[in-house]
Amino acid sequence: MSAQPHVAVPPTAQEQQQTGPNPQQQLLQAAMGYVVSSAVYTATKLGIADLLADGPKPVAELAKQTQTHEDALYRMLRALACAGIFAEVEAGSRLFALTPPAEFLLSGREGSMREFLLFFPDPFHFHLYAEMLYSIKTGKPAVEHVHGMPVFELFADPKYKEESVVFNAAMTSFSAVVVPAVLEVYDFSGIGTLMDVAGGHGFVLTSILKKYPEMRGKLVDLEHVTKGARQRIAELKLTDRCEVVTGDFFQSVPEGADAIIMKHIIHDWDDEKALLILKNCRKALGKNGKLILLEAVISEDNEPHPGKFVDLEMLIFPGGRERTESEYRKLFEEAGFKMNRVVPNKSPLSVVEAVSQ
Ligand SMILES: C[S@@+](CC[C@H](N)C(=O)[O-])C[C@H]1O[C@@H](n2cnc3c(N)ncnc32)[C@H](O)[C@@H]1O
Repeated sequence: MSAQPHVAVPPTAQEQQQTGPNPQQQLLQAAMGYVVSSAVYTATKLGIADLLADGPKPVAELAKQTQTHEDALYRMLRALACAGIFAEVEAGSRLFALTPPAEFLLSGREGSMREFLLFFPDPFHFHLYAEMLYSIKTGKPAVEHVHGMPVFELFADPKYKEESVVFNAAMTSFSAVVVPAVLEVYDFSGIGTLMDVAGGHGFVLTSILKKYPEMRGKLVDLEHVTKGARQRIAELKLTDRCEVVTGDFFQSVPEGADAIIMKHIIHDWDDEKALLILKNCRKALGKNGKLILLEAVISEDNEPHPGKFVDLEMLIFPGGRERTESEYRKLFEEAGFKMNRVVPNKSPLSVVEAVSQ
């Protein structure tokens, strides 16, 4: 009997339903993700959302206000409407409006992600993704390959001041997504002094201090960052109960707090460096101090989690990693902490709570 020729038979609708999305479309979507990313970035850079804040506008007017090419702008907004970001009011009307996701591109809106969108697909950052192969081959951050230095040294270099400003604003913007969700589910009461180690421009700490008027705060970060934190703390009139300290968490962490909070810090580092930071926190806290991490806790199975993509960002940018609950538990034990609990909430980050032993 002769071998049957291999004929690719397209799946029936029923088979497709059973096997999920069309695999070729799924690949195309994955390969072209950066087209959407670039279009969202460009729309954000042009301030399109703010121009639509008072209601729908014709693309001709948007093009005039943004000094862009009308037809090119139309094509970009039409594509973004396809992705659910902005909407064409009626097919072919060339009249565009905000959608619920686009509302979070408005500047000044509570929970606005505008500054985050101005960082993530920004050319400086985006360019590093073209070098992912380097990181996958070596396990090292592409940023060091491209710019010749680790990312937090780069941000401290006055040559990269602009990039540092964009990065810090993005961190604050992301905190605005995470912190309200954390405050909804996690009770910080009973903490006399809360120290935010590597607290950036202070969004996390100042938000907690505003909700807990009896609490005192201490923020630690590198010198070029603490200036921004001092400014925010002063603007919010919290200077009398919030101290700002310049310091390097690899050298030491200041004493005098009942609890330490760190958002998106441990994930920036490999196990060896993460352990060094945690051990310095343990020294600073003494026994029975609380350690509160705000981090993505990824699942061990194949379940989708945005943290599994952020993990690649950690590989390429600072050289860190996202971790599972058992990986956090192990790190804590080695550093002299016992994990208490993981508290999920509406944001992509969980509260990971531990107590020093
Ligand atoms: C990913 S950002 C997070 C900032 C802040 N926790 C937030 O979520 O907005 C990492 C922070 O670590 C700080 N950092 C990096 N290396 C440091 C070091 N050796 N000592 C203290 N802070 C450091 C950076 O300046 C930056 O503010």
